[in-house]
Amino acid sequence: MTEETRILIVDDEKRILELFKPLLEDFGYYVRTAATPEDALRLIREDRFHIIFVDQYLGPMKGLELIGKMTVTDPGLYFVTMTACSSTDLAVEAMKKGASDFLSKPFFINDFIKSIEYVNKKRALDAEKAELIMSLELKASEKEEELKGMYFSVLSSLAQAMEKKDIGTYGHSRRVGHYSRLIAAAIDLGGEDSDRLKAASLLHDIGKIGITDFILGKNGRLNSHEMQEVKNHPMKGVEILKPLKQFHSILPAILHHHEYYDGSGYPEGLAGEDIPLLARIITVCDTYDAILSNRPYRAAGTHEKALAELIKYSGRQFDPMIVEAFVYAEKKFRRMFGTADNFYPEMPSGLYETYNAAERA
Ligand SMILES: [Fe+2]
Repeated sequence: MTEETRILIVDDEKRILELFKPLLEDFGYYVRTAATPEDALRLIREDRFHIIFVDQYLGPMKGLELIGKMTVTDPGLYFVTMTACSSTDLAVEAMKKGASDFLSKPFFINDFIKSIEYVNKKRALDAEKAELIMSLELKASEKEEELKGMYFSVLSSLAQAMEKKDIGTYGHSRRVGHYSRLIAAAIDLGGEDSDRLKAASLLHDIGKIGITDFILGKNGRLNSHEMQEVKNHPMKGVEILKPLKQFHSILPAILHHHEYYDGSGYPEGLAGEDIPLLARIITVCDTYDAILSNRPYRAAGTHEKALAELIKYSGRQFDPMIVEAFVYAEKKFRRMFGTADNFYPEMPSGLYETYNAAERA
């Protein structure tokens, strides 16, 4: 401890205060004294101390009670109780309640000094411990961030691998991920749910891996068998991810991302709030991106068209609360769609134009 130790002595015996204050000051300590609990409480509010020496018999208020009150005011204080020889039980009780040391009366200046040195060692150890814990916590949270980053890059690669099968949807999952982040912010979705939403957005169509290239690449209308095959992709997604425990919490969002708010969607025809919230968010973002993307059978729509569609089908296909959140964040969607960097942050600059050209070809 390089800083001078700041000490407060609380005792109703004035001669103790008068005797030890100058002696301790001679040893280089900052010392103040209080003869009543009220004075002591006032002093710790006004001044800053490290160690408080408290007599156990202070008239109506016991020393232990005073220690309790002082701890509430300043939890960083260290206490030493001063008791008569006959009151060792009280000293033990004080130690149990957090006092660092005790002095038995009568005591001498050396006892005081030894106690201060002992408590200072304890303070130094506690400070070291706190610093160690803080740095461990920091390292743990850095590791957690690193793992989270790795987790999302793996998900991104999985999504990319899946999109390679279906050229028309290149970047779709990641864009849905970006859009759903805007909705998450608009409805104040909490941290864990927000991460789950990001993961589910990236993987919502992973089940398309199980659909034949012929069906995915077909230009004309799909027959009923082919349509059924496409409709199986949420279930196939669940089958693919089910063996991995980490994905269990996002399976409901994947399974139900094609449910309609009025119950006319698939695979289970769930309606309203029976559809998991994350799935209701993905549905809106999925549709928004689909309208803005080129398809073999139609050209890409505008942001305005997508906005009108979402409002038109609010309450039928989409949860009105999510559409409301979309309308609230609408400018952000428009900006993300309209700006290359925001629209597709992971894509290196220059590639955006190439991507757009490929999409329009
Ligand atoms: Fe889908």
